[in-house]
Parts: sequence; structure tokens; C-alpha cells
Amino acid sequence: MGSTSTLDDTVSIADLVADGAITSNAEVVEWVTGVAELTKPDAVVWCDGSQEEWNRITGEMVAAGTLIPLNKDLRPGSFLARSHPGDVARVEDRTFICSENESDAGPTNNWRAPADMKAELMPLFDGSMRGRTMYVVPFSMGPVGGAITQLGIEITDSPYAVLNMRIMTRMGQAALDGITPGSEWVRTVHSVGAPLLDGAEDVAWPCNDLKYITHFPETLEVWSYGSGYGGNALLSKKCFALRIASVMGRKEGWLAEHMLLLKLTNTDSGKTYHLSAAFPSACGKTNLAMLQPTIPGWKVETIGDDIAWLRPGPDGRLYAINPEAGFFGVAPGTGESTNPVAMETLWGNTIFTNVALTDDGDVWWEGKTDEVPDHLIDWQGDDWTPDAGRVAAHPNSRFTVPIQQTPTLADDWYEQNGVPLDAILFGGRRATNVPLVAQSLSWQHGVFVGATISSEKTAAQEGTVGELRRDPFAMLPFCGYNMADYWGHWLEMGEQLGEHAPKIFQVNWFRKGADGRFLWPGFGDNSRVIDWVIRRVSGEVEGRVSQVGVLPAQGELNLDGIEEVESDLAELFAIDPASWLAECDLTEEFFSRFGDRVPAGLRTELADLRKRLGA
Ligand code: PEP
Ligand code: NA
Ligand code: MN
Repeated sequence: MGSTSTLDDTVSIADLVADGAITSNAEVVEWVTGVAELTKPDAVVWCDGSQEEWNRITGEMVAAGTLIPLNKDLRPGSFLARSHPGDVARVEDRTFICSENESDAGPTNNWRAPADMKAELMPLFDGSMRGRTMYVVPFSMGPVGGAITQLGIEITDSPYAVLNMRIMTRMGQAALDGITPGSEWVRTVHSVGAPLLDGAEDVAWPCNDLKYITHFPETLEVWSYGSGYGGNALLSKKCFALRIASVMGRKEGWLAEHMLLLKLTNTDSGKTYHLSAAFPSACGKTNLAMLQPTIPGWKVETIGDDIAWLRPGPDGRLYAINPEAGFFGVAPGTGESTNPVAMETLWGNTIFTNVALTDDGDVWWEGKTDEVPDHLIDWQGDDWTPDAGRVAAHPNSRFTVPIQQTPTLADDWYEQNGVPLDAILFGGRRATNVPLVAQSLSWQHGVFVGATISSEKTAAQEGTVGELRRDPFAMLPFCGYNMADYWGHWLEMGEQLGEHAPKIFQVNWFRKGADGRFLWPGFGDNSRVIDWVIRRVSGEVEGRVSQVGVLPAQGELNLDGIEEVESDLAELFAIDPASWLAECDLTEEFFSRFGDRVPAGLRTELADLRKRLGA
């Protein structure tokens, strides 16, 4: 079991760290000691990931008022946390990529020179854990020892972060034991930035108005200050598994992607396929990860809903893992009718953050049930009734739940070396132009499609609703280096994979007719699109070539049971050269932001697309 050491006058901080250490790796102990000497906690806990540790920490947090235990009969092993009202989401404007050269961060990231950022941060971290416990949280992204796996340690003064990390990663002793002297691992440090001086009383959700989410890709470090929330504090997720890992992948020949991962089994032949998909937020990634097909012939199973790491295997194919071990999902809009699999997954052992509390000690959020409870305690802890004129759950309220509770979880999630990928989907929310599905004409064309993903802004984003926002590969806030170099890395990967490369498709569930109505039913019926995608991969259907890619030929898309869509097919697949050419102009403008770092292959694709459109 992990152990706690507490500071008193007779021990040095170095002794405090060493006394509790559950590793003999001197490099690790030395790093932890350095961070402890800087942040000056009262106590140090090395986390082993055990159930006893979980029980102890949840007990302490309930006593402190940070966690509210839910009704054991309705939601066993589960808790509600309410954040500070100003600490409810990722903070992209306070997120920095600190590469030595500004051009390596690229025009889509905030950049600071590493030395300047460290000089700004260190005074903030100096004594930032005073009066608190410092937790040392070792974690593995992927199965320990796996071919695509990476290891890291998060030092944090937030027990909320510790619990969430235990759900979201393979956290504890095995991960720590995997960090052998001289091996590569990622060092992450997190402080809520709220030292408790002179025995001051703590609050339920300590944080600081000043926030920094900083990444040092060249030294594989993350330093996060001031926030206790999700992607700001669970440093394995966006910080490591996307921003730092994307840089590691470029150097080492692999890819860190903002993608869900699915396993598909043809129930007639027994053949299995694997598919990944990148969509910007609010485009249904978690729903697709938990797809319930409406057509017979396919078993669809979940491997991941947010992040995939892809690496060429010994047979030359591209292998994928979900490096995470849990879901950190948005609660509102998740319900029996929209995502029954998610609802079943949340039966217990779940940490809910910023949802509403029911009178019988369960949770509720907008969209959970059609019927709205008469009375709730809202996400800020206030009484709420349906006439309150405000939402009961924060729009970005979350559940953190172990992936192993997913009823549709594929065995492949456990695969030590990942699963071979057959197809990659890129999507966005587009009322016009983009057809329901189109296969790219080549890997290079597929990279062009990924690089030019755009999605209409929703009410959740700044700007005019409906305006297009570019979100290349759905990685805009998550790429740890120059986005144009990232496109180049994808092109090189295609060259390496050659004939083994997965096939790339563009999809759009959101196209509307001239009358403003959605032309495609979406949700479970998206299985019809995936059915066509896999039949293209296996060579069972021919498709028909259009200017923007290969579309389903007449009769290839299975519409059994939704024959009414037949009359909308022409509109669903219509390609208007004039508006596509206008979009090409926007793409050229977008590319110009990256100057001469845009790979020649993508400029060729833009020129070729214009030619096919008759320019
Ligand atoms: C987050 O907001 O903390 C987070 C993990 O982001 P996302 O929902 O985009 O995955
Ligand atoms: Na968010
Ligand atoms: Mn995400």
C-alpha cells in the first residue's frame, strides 16, 4: 500500500519524500523531491492505485465536504462534486505550448519560450502546496508493457484529481514499476494554486483565478496551475495524451489523435474490423462510440470515445489503442433515448461533477429523462424548481466512469499491442455542401480532408452561429506542435504504410434540406454509413467517383426500414461546384496562415480539387 509522510520539524522534505517512496528508481525520487522542495506540502502520499487508497481518499473528501456520497441503492460507489463556479471548463486562452522556437508551436497555439514561462511559473509554484498533501500519481497510458503504451507521473495537490486519474488511467504501483531507470516517461505537475497558510480553513473546491496550462514538449513536462477541473487538472488526458504525445509521436513515428475507436464484427462472416473517427466537440463522438446499429449484420463494440494512439506494427499495418481507462463525458444530453449504453455504464462507481442532486440522493441533468423533477439542488448547491429560469446542471457538467463498466466494451480494449485499423472517419457539423459520406481518393486526399475539417459554430462557441470554424483533425486545441508540420507527419505516415494504410472517409450526419430539416436520421442509423464504409474497405461495393471523393452508388446504402430517406438521397449527396469552389478559397486563406510550412502535397490536393470542380 502507498504511504503518507507528514512534515514536522525533525524531517527534511527530502526525507519526507524518500520515507514514503514506493519505488527504488532514484531518478523518480529525485524529481519528486525537487517538486516537493518547490511546492512545500505538509504531507506526501505515493499513490499505489489500491481500493484501500480509493476508500481512504473518498472518505477524507466526504468529511471535507468536497464529495457528496450519492444514494447507495440508486448509484452505488458514486459521488457528486461541485466546482468553483469559475472553474468549469478547459481554458484554451491560458493554455501554452512552450517549445524553444515559436514557429514549432505554430499559429494555432499560444506560445511562450520555455525559460520565460518557467521564470513566470516557478514563483507561483513556490509554496503553492503549503498546508496541503502532495500526491504522487504514477499512471500508464495503455496496458503496462504494451507496444504503444507510454508512462507518466502526475504530482498534484488535488485529491479530486487523484480519484479521477484512478478512473481515467491505469494508475498505481504497476505503472510506477514500469518506469525503469533511463526509460522515457512524462513528468506532470499540478497545483490548484491555493496554499493553506497558518492553518487556514479549506474550501470545498480550492482553485486560483490565475490559471496556466503549460506544456514543454522538448523536455516532456506539463505544469498546470490554478484549476481543479477536468482537462486542466487530469494531466494524462489532453495535456499528455494529445499535446505532449503528438510531439513524441512525430519524433518516434506514431500518431496521437482526438479519435474514438470502434470494433465492428460482421455477424455473418465473423470478420472483424476497426475504425477510428475524429469529430470536433458537439458532433456526437461519444454517441458514435456507443453506437447501437439499426440494421442487422453488425455487432458494434466500444474501444474508446476520445483519444487514440496509432502506431505501425511489425506487419506494416497501423495499430491503435485507447490509452485511457475511463470516460470523462459531458452529462447534459446523455439520456435513455440518445445514449442508452452510456446510461447503463453510469450505474455506479462514478464521479459526477457539476450535475444536479435529486431529493433521493441521485443525480440529474438536462436530457437525462424527459420528465423534469419537481425539485433539485442545482450544480451550485441552490434549490431549483422547473420554473427557476436556469439550468439545473452546468452545460459542461461531467461524469467520470471506468470504461470497464461499458456493456458494449470490446475485448480489444485490453489488447496489449492494439488493434489494426481498417478505416478512419473525419467529420463535422455541416448543414450544406458536405455529403453524408465520401471516401477519399487517396491517403494524401484523406489528409487534405482531415486538414480542412470545418464545423458550424454552435451556441456554445464565440462568434456567429452557423459560421464555419476550422478544426483540422479535430485537433485545433490539442496539437502540441505546428499544425502544418503535423499534416506533413500524416503524409509521411501514409508513405510508410503504403498499401496497408487504412482507408479515409469524410462523413456528415448534419446536412439539411432547403426546407431546413435534417436529411439524415443519424444516431443508430449511422450504422448504415459504417456498413457502406466497411463494404468499401472489403471491396464488396464499387461506389461512384465524384469531384469530392467516392460516394455510394445507387442502391449501395442500406435503407431497409427507412425507405422515406430515398427521396432525400439526391440532396444528401448533392455537390454544388460553386459553393465548393468558394470553400476552396477559404481553404487557401486558411493554409496561408501556415506560410510555406504547408506540405506541397496538400497544395496539390487543393489545386486538384479545384480542377475536378471545373475551375
Ligand atoms: C475537458 O473539457 O476537460 C475535456 C476533457 O475536454 P473534451 O470534452 O473536449 O474531451
Ligand atoms: Na470542455
Ligand atoms: Mn475530447
